Amino acid sequence: MAKPERHVFVCVQNRPLGHPKGSCTEKAAPDLLNAFAKEFEARQLRGRFALTSTGCLGTCDAGPSVLIYPGGVMYGEVKPEDVHAIIEEHLLGGIPVERLMVSAEVWS
Ligand code: FES
Repeated sequence: MAKPERHVFVCVQNRPLGHPKGSCTEKAAPDLLNAFAKEFEARQLRGRFALTSTGCLGTCDAGPSVLIYPGGVMYGEVKPEDVHAIIEEHLLGGIPVERLMVSAEVWS
């Protein structure tokens, strides 16, 4: 298997309702994962880039969380409508989408 240029991790952690940490799934992370998957499929990006659903990334308050390597760029409060910008600007363009990055107090 060829090493992907970039690897996108989408948190789809679930927790019981009322859990103090909440969860990305509670904040519609599965819709976000689907949006990435659809765009990867439509644009034939699989192989060049990897997409993986994952458990908690530790930035629950800022979820839904998306982490991209290399670089360890953490995005927060990501919505399906942000997927296009992440793919265009970060995955293809190499420049992280600053407006979606979590603050340095959350991830540094
Ligand atoms: S539940 Fe998604 S970052 Fe913790």
